[in-house]
Amino acid sequence: MHSLEIKRKYIDFFKSKDHTEVPNVSLIPENDPTSLFNIAGMQPLTPYFPGTPHPMGKRLVNVQRCVRTIDIEEVGDTTHNTFFEMIGYWSLGSYFKEKAIEMTFEFYTSKKYMNLDPRRIYVTVFKGDKDAPLDQEAIEIWEKQFTTKGIKAEVYDKDSQNNDQARVFPLAKKENWWGPVGETGPSGPCSEVFYWRGKGEPDFKEFVPWDDSNMFIELGNDVFMAYDKTKDGGYKPLKQINIDFGGGFERIALVMQLREEDGSIPMNKTIFNTDLFDTPLAYIRSQIEDESRKSTKEENRIDITEFDPTLTDIKDYEKAVRSIRIILDHLRASTFLVADGIEPSNKDQGYILRRLLRRAIRHAKLIGIERNFTKDLAELYIEKYKPQYPHLETNSQKIIDVLEKEEINFEHTIQRGFREVEKLTAKGEKITGKDLFFIFETYGYPIEMALDSLQITDYGLRNKYITEFNKAKESHQKKSRKGAGKFSGGLADHTEISKRYHTATHLLLKALQTVLGDHVHQRGSNITEERLRFDFSHPKMLSTQELEDIKKTVNDQIDAGLKIEKKEMSKDEALKIDAECEFPERYPDTVSVYILKNPKTGKIFSKELCGGPHVENTKELAESGKFRIVKEESSSSGVRRIRAVLTKK
Ligand code: ALA
Repeated sequence: MHSLEIKRKYIDFFKSKDHTEVPNVSLIPENDPTSLFNIAGMQPLTPYFPGTPHPMGKRLVNVQRCVRTIDIEEVGDTTHNTFFEMIGYWSLGSYFKEKAIEMTFEFYTSKKYMNLDPRRIYVTVFKGDKDAPLDQEAIEIWEKQFTTKGIKAEVYDKDSQNNDQARVFPLAKKENWWGPVGETGPSGPCSEVFYWRGKGEPDFKEFVPWDDSNMFIELGNDVFMAYDKTKDGGYKPLKQINIDFGGGFERIALVMQLREEDGSIPMNKTIFNTDLFDTPLAYIRSQIEDESRKSTKEENRIDITEFDPTLTDIKDYEKAVRSIRIILDHLRASTFLVADGIEPSNKDQGYILRRLLRRAIRHAKLIGIERNFTKDLAELYIEKYKPQYPHLETNSQKIIDVLEKEEINFEHTIQRGFREVEKLTAKGEKITGKDLFFIFETYGYPIEMALDSLQITDYGLRNKYITEFNKAKESHQKKSRKGAGKFSGGLADHTEISKRYHTATHLLLKALQTVLGDHVHQRGSNITEERLRFDFSHPKMLSTQELEDIKKTVNDQIDAGLKIEKKEMSKDEALKIDAECEFPERYPDTVSVYILKNPKTGKIFSKELCGGPHVENTKELAESGKFRIVKEESSSSGVRRIRAVLTKK
């Protein structure tokens, strides 16, 4: 089944169960500093799990683009990606476990949809601990579901010799508890669904779903999101109980596209053999062919006469196969990151992008691709994904420009790094891994390349350098982490300072409209404990005078001590009173409107539909200091970006 058809069927199935499709949003989280990227489909929905009504209802579905960089070093194996798509469905206080499990099972096994053999499905549940009990309810629901297919599903017992009928595996928190995404917020026990890829039936003495044999392919994860993790590390029940389902699309495509007739999937078939990577893979193979033909030195030639990237078990090819996968993954991620506005830099998302691109370029060199290739691969990905992601096409020129520039820059980096290494060698000093870290830090010259240029080929010696390098890197990271203060807060964060920035954002929007005109609307917002960032529609750069006027308007309102009132009202009413709201059709019938009012004059300064949190009086902002705009720049065409702080200085 073609990947587009799998997605369409997924959405259709959940629409037939009264779910509404929510938009697939940017990889960069809005208003959420807890992570650099959206790592799961649920992340943009974080504010709605505790009970704030979602504009599009209580039952939602989508396919969301995600990036997880925690796995960056694992990319190159058969199942990990940095960029991936997640199919997701959610109940925000609508149905709970029974309906969720029933629908997940139906989607995967019904003839009309995925039509997988139910005998190949195995599931896990939470085994219980001090925070929550064994999920007996989920066990019983699963047993019932399997019974409808004539399958007896027993619970696995690791101490028993007789696990032949086992299908339900109770696991500890490490495996079977999801979230929160940041330090605090919505989370809960979960139940994962796996597909057994082997021949016949699994022998549980040999394989279990959570081992790293890769014999069970994860199809998805139903999270029973009923807990709120608090700052003290405890869990308290959420007011609203929710379902958060997520499934890695690439793995589902693997199961749907590469099964043999008996349902088994050969171990040499991986996500990189699905249609999601077909044209990029063909391109890389053709490059290897070209380059190795051109190569004059015999020992540099890669024998591709029988080259098959799926032959992971043939030692000589192993490295090349890994490199190909890394290139395939990293270029797809990079294409999507640039499309979402990220450019290579030395921090945050830009740093990750730079790392992905450079790692890909390095691996391309390893397999003999010397020419610039990033543009060609980006074009293939744009072509492939544009039906679902039209923004790839609208940003195609930018994607190509950014990638090409970085590729050229990296070429310079390599040359500079090489020179630095040569200088050290010329001095006759003994070079250490720490020196190489310093060169990496300053010039971005990767250790692997440095070791190659030093012609250090001995495996043990290379490792010694890498260990020294990593030590220096860790100590450097510790230092910079201390200063960064990132990854705290988030949508679930109600610290005073975050609340102040939320309220300052409302003041800023109204001030922008007052100074620049009513065409100004919010295009994006991101708040950390250090600053606010706000994107808004406006065609040109702001003048110094305009910036001054905006700043003054905000500070005047802080000084005036506006009261913040939260009012629940019908959407019609909110629109009638002209509350700020970009897409009325996306809001539910009942909404919260935050009203900022001058208590002396009774004059309303701003009215906005919002989920909060906010302070009670704008005077509280003054405790952090004055409002100051630190940067004004272009964000994308027709959109400007302001960074502002509350500061005493
Ligand atoms: N949020 C859950 C996950 O990513 C579904 O596994």
